[in-house]
Amino acid sequence: MVARIEISHLDKTYIRKPWLWGKAMLRPVLQDINLILPENRVLGLVGESGCGKSTLCKVVLGIEQATAGTVKINGQDIAGLSGTQWKPLRQYMQVVYQDPYASLDPRMNVRQLISEPLDIHGLHLQKKEREQFLKALLDSVGLAENYLDRYAHEFSGGQRQRIAIARALALEPQILIADEPVSALDVSVQAQILNLLKEIKEKRKLSVLFVTHDFAVARFLCDEIAVMYQGKIVEQAPSEELFAHPLHPYTRQLLSAVPSLGKKKQLLAPHAFWEESRNEWPCPFAPRCQNSLDVCQYTLPKIKEVYPGHQVCCALENKLSEEPL
Ligand SMILES: Nc1ncnc2c1ncn2[C@@H]1O[C@H](COP(=O)(O)OP(=O)(O)OP(=O)(O)O)[C@@H](O)[C@H]1O
Ligand SMILES: [Mg+2]
Repeated sequence: MVARIEISHLDKTYIRKPWLWGKAMLRPVLQDINLILPENRVLGLVGESGCGKSTLCKVVLGIEQATAGTVKINGQDIAGLSGTQWKPLRQYMQVVYQDPYASLDPRMNVRQLISEPLDIHGLHLQKKEREQFLKALLDSVGLAENYLDRYAHEFSGGQRQRIAIARALALEPQILIADEPVSALDVSVQAQILNLLKEIKEKRKLSVLFVTHDFAVARFLCDEIAVMYQGKIVEQAPSEELFAHPLHPYTRQLLSAVPSLGKKKQLLAPHAFWEESRNEWPCPFAPRCQNSLDVCQYTLPKIKEVYPGHQVCCALENKLSEEPL
């Protein structure tokens, strides 16, 4: 198994400086993240809003710097790389963002949008060759070649996301970072884009880091799923294993909140003060956990492999592995 992305003991803390006086506030957003994205696999990162999913993507893409830990892309540590050293990595790793309305420049037509990365990297410079390449690329994302001279505002959300995917694929990357690429789309269009991503992943043997807050979407696309809660990976397992035997109380509560007919819902307990109380408990989920026991007040849970390939970070992991959902 070749690791396309290897994240080890990654921490990211933002520092909020006060306007005038007072102490700077530290906001730990990612804590001790360990993840591997193998070749030709889709790794899903699932968690609620604000848990740090996009921050993780930004660190991997070099937009934000890690506070501690390492990120290796194809074996190369990205810490301290210069702009020139990043260039080949950018060709190798591309990104699709959540909002196709904001991620495409409205002043550019589709031809310019998709050609821009090719110009930056000096690829397909002959006019005829480029035209053929652009048409084939549009075709591969299900768009007609006569769309090349139209502008982004002339398309629907789903079509725009297809353009964004075509732009990301123009450099023929091996890694795709997809940060909630279907969240801004309605359900039927979501299904089309997910099918497209699945097809592209198979055809191009892509490794995909796929961020979502929707378990149904993750189940459809991902080979492996990591569940994140307040900047920590609380559970990780192959997709089918996670759905068959969810262990962490957070995963269980998220799964039981997925709408389904005739099933009694166990909704995630709200906790208005989690932000304040997160530092008082060793386990960040304990204030909201319906299974928490006294042990959770004094035990810092560590991630452990409970079944082959299935890891969970919970002080009650032995008890939970015996309890069916
Ligand atoms: N530049 C920054 N300075 C300070 N805090 C930040 C900064 N960027 C993000 N944060 C904080 O980091 C936390 C995680 O943000 P992030 O955008 O990674 O969440 P997310 O999981 O992607 O959420 P969503 O699902 O809503 O996109 C949030 O509490 C956010 O306020
Ligand atoms: Mg986000």
